Amino acid sequence: MTASPRDVLVLGIETSCDETAAAVVRRTATGQGHVLSNVIRSQWTAHAPFGGVVPEIAARAHCEILDVLVEQALGDAGVALNDIDAIAATAGPGLIGGLIVGLVSAKALAFAAGKPLIGVNHLEAHALTVGLTDGIAPPYLLLLVSGGHSQILAVRGIGDYVRLGTTIDDALGEAFDKTAKLLGLSQPGGPAVEHAAKTGDADRFLLPRPMLGRPEPNFSFAGLKTAVRQTAHAAAPLAEQDIADLCAGFQAAVRDTIIDRLERAIEIVVGGGSMARPPIVIAGGVAANTVLRDGLSALANQRGLPVHLPPLNLCGDNAAMIAWVGAERLAAGLLDAASTVARPRWPLDETVAPLVGHGRKGAKA
Ligand code: KG4
Ligand code: ZN
Repeated sequence: MTASPRDVLVLGIETSCDETAAAVVRRTATGQGHVLSNVIRSQWTAHAPFGGVVPEIAARAHCEILDVLVEQALGDAGVALNDIDAIAATAGPGLIGGLIVGLVSAKALAFAAGKPLIGVNHLEAHALTVGLTDGIAPPYLLLLVSGGHSQILAVRGIGDYVRLGTTIDDALGEAFDKTAKLLGLSQPGGPAVEHAAKTGDADRFLLPRPMLGRPEPNFSFAGLKTAVRQTAHAAAPLAEQDIADLCAGFQAAVRDTIIDRLERAIEIVVGGGSMARPPIVIAGGVAANTVLRDGLSALANQRGLPVHLPPLNLCGDNAAMIAWVGAERLAAGLLDAASTVARPRWPLDETVAPLVGHGRKGAKA
């Protein structure tokens, strides 16, 4: 199968943290996205004994499996390397060893096939996922919540992002993971907390809603996590129901905080005149959380705003979103040779300073 001259086929590679992924995406001449293949291999079992992601283990695991996944992605899509128009690989932010593995492999493939190489910002890939899944083009208001980042961004166009708010301490996914760890649940913590919370009573333990009402739409999750720890110690020894109630209380506190912060961001963009009716979009691994998705839908409905929630399988890290950014940038002629250098830190909005230091994938901000 060969791409018609008007369509673009891009091979994407993702190796920035603990998922190795390869995918093939088609972008039609009219800008529609189609995922032709999407292969992901998680490394959780390799990191589990250490209670978190070990960068050296991650880099080695990417090295061992990436060529197999690329072959599988091409095979599943029914295309050969020569049919591909460009190769896109995550260049940052993330763990440097993994980024280098992905980029060097992509460079070798691009050189061998005589195709362009596109270095992709992982955050931009989360930010533009709704273009691939729902055909939504900027401008929109984005809640980007994952293991390494928690931000509210005004997405004004491809490559044009204004950070309205960020976390001053932990990323939201990190707070889920740490909460799961301290309650003895499995990793990754987000799905484990969500699962446990299903049988929990969210009103039994009253947990704090950090930053509520603050003028800047920033987040703070470290205090919430500490409150969970203190409540858990006070209620110890914990029965299954106690854990369920704590998880439900934690999720309700997260939802209330996020909604409050998003309301503030809506006021800022509407009041500033930059977006009259901002569509609300969510992205990143934590975007798979049902309580959060329901909270966002309710907020949008109440405000009469459109809401776009990408499908669960494209919320977490994947290579389809990387390929999509490659295709979008190729189509828009927005290619930058400097972007093919691996960088652990790479903020989407380079004009604002990070409010905190490093998360597990670089700057949390
Ligand atoms: O986007 P992602 O796959 O990787 C990063 O870029 O960090 O996000 C991973 C994070 C982890 O912290 C994981 O616990 C969280 O997303 N996560 C969830 C859920 N599924 C994954 N958090 C809450 N609820 C979920 N259902
Ligand atoms: Zn991610």
